[in-house]
Amino acid sequence: MKLPQRVKIVDVGPRDGLQNEKQPVPAAVKIELVHRLQQAGLKEIEVTSFVSPKWVPQMADNAEVMAGIQRKPGVRYSVLTPNLQGFDAALKSQPDEIVVFGAASEAFSRKNINCSIAESIERFAPVVQAARAAGVYVRGAMSCTVGCPYEGEIAPERVGYLAGLMKGIGVQHIGVADTIGVGTPRKVQAAIEATLRHYALEHVSGHFHDTYGQALANTLAALEMGVWQFDTSVAGLGGCPYAKGATGNVATEDVVYMLHGMGIETGIDLDLLIDAGVFISDFLQRKPGSRAATAILNKRHA
Ligand code: HMG
Ligand code: MG
Repeated sequence: MKLPQRVKIVDVGPRDGLQNEKQPVPAAVKIELVHRLQQAGLKEIEVTSFVSPKWVPQMADNAEVMAGIQRKPGVRYSVLTPNLQGFDAALKSQPDEIVVFGAASEAFSRKNINCSIAESIERFAPVVQAARAAGVYVRGAMSCTVGCPYEGEIAPERVGYLAGLMKGIGVQHIGVADTIGVGTPRKVQAAIEATLRHYALEHVSGHFHDTYGQALANTLAALEMGVWQFDTSVAGLGGCPYAKGATGNVATEDVVYMLHGMGIETGIDLDLLIDAGVFISDFLQRKPGSRAATAILNKRHA
């Protein structure tokens, strides 16, 4: 076991979290959420996506949200860009990082981005090239690395295959995503292991949805492999519109509580983070989807 001493958390709540909300969330609320996350000490925030508004209407205000954020020095802001059209639009917003997102499953690739895995790589290649030429860091996301809503179980070899393709076109960092939260620790470790054949440990992150309540266990399993970067979502917001029934990412609050309890640094103030989760949950008229937040809020009110 080589547990990291410090963990970098990317809060993807404003993007992965809110993209799935049916009710319109005004840009001002999204901006306030980003402000509260950076106030809580988040150094990496996935803000929005420059995708087709016909596919994901909730993200149609991408440029407005990016323009409204008062950037905090030391904080990096990332956005999703599925193609050159999205990248060109995103570049005007000056993101620190862009994310190209592919899938280990052929069927999910078609459902989510309307093309095959091979076509997606052809599409991403000029995006990666343009981003790197513009000095924008490139992250790749690999969906369905454990299971797919359409194809079922996904073999680690397919994850390794996609990671190799991403590496081949110059993607600098890679995220191993359990999109529908079906993964269990050993399966997630196998997906990460396959990824590590192509990417060094410092360029690999975990992105675990919590549909089956496995995301914290999967996070710990990844930590035990030395992985120290994770995407999480404040208040456990979210899901993917093209993965029906999948819930949000593991709640940032729960991961921070676990890490701090293990003596691992995050630089995040859990109380301020919980306040950020309450802010967005109040707007959405629900309770925060975080067990740690619920427990601490109950204590606060006692
Ligand atoms: P398409 O329909 O094949 O695109 O969609 P197209 O190139 O044929 O163009 C069709 C129309 O879309 C045209 O408009 C384009 O201008 C427009 P029209 O002439 O019909 O008016 N268009 C765009 N508009 C705005 N921004 C763009 C853009 N591109 C084309 N970038 C496309 C292909 C990829 C665009 C579409 O499938 C799409 O937007 N998909 C995104 C789906 C999505 O956002 N899913 C959620 C994010 S992924 C995720 O959540 C997983 C992750 O969290 C990891 C995990 O958990 O697994 C990352
Ligand atoms: Mg996701």
